[in-house]
Amino acid sequence: MMDDRAGDMRSRAQEIMRLNDRGTYTVPTSGLYPFQWNWDSCLSALGFAHFDEARAWTEIDTLFAHQWEDGMVPHIVFHREDDGYFPGPDVWRTGRMTPTPTPTTGITQPPVAGFCIRRLVDRAADRALAETRARALLPQIHAWHKWFYRHRDPQGTGLVAILHPWESGRDNSIDWDAPLERVSPEGVEPFTRKDTTHADPAHRPTQGQYERYIRLVQHFRDLDWDNARLHDASPFRVVDPGFNAILVRSCTDLAALADDLGEAEIAARSREFATRGLAAMESLWSEARGQYLCHDRATGRAIDSPSIGGLLPVFAAIPAPRAAALAARIAHLGEGAEYMVPSHDPAAPEFDSLRYWRGPVWLIVNYMIADGLARAGHGVQADRIVGDSLRLIRESGFAEYYDTHTAEPCGGSTFTWTAAIVIEFLTPISRPGDTA
Ligand code: DGY
Repeated sequence: MMDDRAGDMRSRAQEIMRLNDRGTYTVPTSGLYPFQWNWDSCLSALGFAHFDEARAWTEIDTLFAHQWEDGMVPHIVFHREDDGYFPGPDVWRTGRMTPTPTPTTGITQPPVAGFCIRRLVDRAADRALAETRARALLPQIHAWHKWFYRHRDPQGTGLVAILHPWESGRDNSIDWDAPLERVSPEGVEPFTRKDTTHADPAHRPTQGQYERYIRLVQHFRDLDWDNARLHDASPFRVVDPGFNAILVRSCTDLAALADDLGEAEIAARSREFATRGLAAMESLWSEARGQYLCHDRATGRAIDSPSIGGLLPVFAAIPAPRAAALAARIAHLGEGAEYMVPSHDPAAPEFDSLRYWRGPVWLIVNYMIADGLARAGHGVQADRIVGDSLRLIRESGFAEYYDTHTAEPCGGSTFTWTAAIVIEFLTPISRPGDTA
């Protein structure tokens, strides 16, 4: 039974989701992010499912209606014109590639869709609806996964690379500092940022980072968004353990769902991707750090940066000793952080408690880490993360992210996926023995 405080928090979360609902898709928050974002939408569907299952499926269907012919699912769908956001469709110029007249960006985002639809089906009250919608999405999500292994792992290593910091979802992580430094901003077209008119500039990426973000977009645009060429041509090619863990988890979940729905070929292929991805993940382990590290594919070297990207692999079925080591690392971080989980180790010199992905806490990552820890039998750490997340909401509302020491709300407010994750957290999380 939910107490009054939890009931109020849940009603407020639901209200925020309705506030940001644009009918067939949801904006992360109005003003700062006025379109549909890929992983925001999929994770937000988990929240919708608690009070409107059909609406949850529509969120994901709308995203996949904009999947490119080659299988890529774009990171933003620009459903409406809005000059309050930069960079808009006039910068991306992907027109030839998009399946509908609605413009999209030309890069992708963490592939949480496979994980999300399995969760929607597992918990569905309307089983018939869930199976129909999942059956339609299954080949589309599978095509996206195949796209990753074809175009982002051309050497067949089992690990995919991101080609733009925005693809990781962790835009200005300290992980990208060195590889992004190699992207010369020379030739970048003049531009005016809009994000800093909606959010405190101290919470956002720097101008130098934005110049490089845009320079990379121009670079890919010059290659006609031809994914067969982008990987090898990109000056930024990084293997992110967190991103790969999300892909592996989604492949595993898609395999299980495909089995249930009698799609044997999708099941077998997805399982193969997951097995290879998990085996290859081992090459990213750092004994010295007690966590996984990013790998710079352009230089062939590890990026020695203790970020949350190296903790996220617990979301996939990594070997038990690795999960235990990550649980210990998380417990250690918990000694120095008031609210878990900081997006970067607070003891690192580059840590910044307010600036986007360089230190603040994000509820969506907390959700995935807590889910993985609980499944691996580390319930104490999982419970601490869930408890800290709900304390953040009580103290600072439904922000985009939070200062790990002070709970100061950062970035945008009335944030959709924060609200969705709160609804999830107010519902018991999976434990060992639940569907694996
Ligand atoms: C932004 O505009 O800040 C987004 O994170 C890019 O996806």
